[in-house]
Amino acid sequence: MTKTVTVFKGDGIGPEIVSAVMRILKCAEANLDYECFEVGEAEYERNGKLIPDEAYASFEKNKVLLKAPITTPIGKGFRSLNVTLRKKYDLYANIRPAKSNAAVITPFANVDIVTFRENTEDLYVGVEEKIDDNTVHAIKIITRTASERIIRDAFTYARTHGRQKVTCVHKANIMKMSDGLFLDIFHEIAKEYPDIVHEDVIVDAVCMKLVMDPTQFDVLVMPNLYGDIVSDLTSGLIGGLGLLPSSNLGEEYAMFEAVHGSAPDIAGKHIANPTALLWSACMMLDHLGQDECANRIRVAVYEVLADGEVRTKDLGGNATTEEYCDAIIAKL
Ligand code: NAI
Repeated sequence: MTKTVTVFKGDGIGPEIVSAVMRILKCAEANLDYECFEVGEAEYERNGKLIPDEAYASFEKNKVLLKAPITTPIGKGFRSLNVTLRKKYDLYANIRPAKSNAAVITPFANVDIVTFRENTEDLYVGVEEKIDDNTVHAIKIITRTASERIIRDAFTYARTHGRQKVTCVHKANIMKMSDGLFLDIFHEIAKEYPDIVHEDVIVDAVCMKLVMDPTQFDVLVMPNLYGDIVSDLTSGLIGGLGLLPSSNLGEEYAMFEAVHGSAPDIAGKHIANPTALLWSACMMLDHLGQDECANRIRVAVYEVLADGEVRTKDLGGNATTEEYCDAIIAKL
């Protein structure tokens, strides 16, 4: 049966990469129908709403969203729509797989790390209080419920995907109560998975170890802020943000998006790499049971990258987004 999914075109490079990805999905004969919406800054200027009510209604009906990046003003303005969507639909598990590609030369050839980022709390609850002109307090929230479910998901993923080890990333030496709770829960849940090796490493040490030898890591699980930062680091290990996909999963809803942002510095230039969003779409196809189609797309991307002739600028080439998309379609 054809599945209808909601698509948010986003800001900056969003519309360019969405249009490339939808062309590829159609050529790959993904069994999908699409309900597409403009969201973000431009939509706000047109209609006074960042996300129109019909866009929310579509996601609530279809339960599956392919989302392009949305710009968030820095230091002022509205709350991040990305954070809002994750919280509103309780998309608590942000899963970010970083896997080396033989065709993209990086200092390490065998990176294969999956980051599980808690997606609903920590400092991202956005509770800040101005004490006086020179003092601001921000609240960090860590709860047992949210910690248990993301940690259990990471261990279950490890078990069901033939992974060996789960590493908890924290800063419980300083944040003894909040990260301390996350860490205690990690060690409690680890006992339910005696077949999986477990360890915990302080976040600063993890960053150092990742750039010295990322092959020592397998599945990582951590609170929201560290997950945001460490997963961008893992993208750098495999060739950059243009290659890192993600799924945001909850009990009821699922959202798929590239890890990168709206890249205003290259927006409108047609040089953005659509691979991260395309691989997020492949994760969506897997989620919908269309993994055969997802794998055909993955193979086509690998073949284009291996040929080495058609690449976007971030991977050392000079192809436009559309030329790269055409090359993938030709392989399909
Ligand atoms: P960014 O990820 O947009 O860009 C960082 C650097 O990576 C830039 O040099 C950009 O050109 C490059 N880059 C990113 N994606 C690329 C792609 N697909 N192909 C080629 N190069 C790519 O991060 P930045 O500049 O910090 O954020 C820009 C805006 O995006 C901000 O408003 C931020 O809040 C928002 N953002 C949104 C996210 C989302 O919607 N999930 C996630 C991260 C940031």
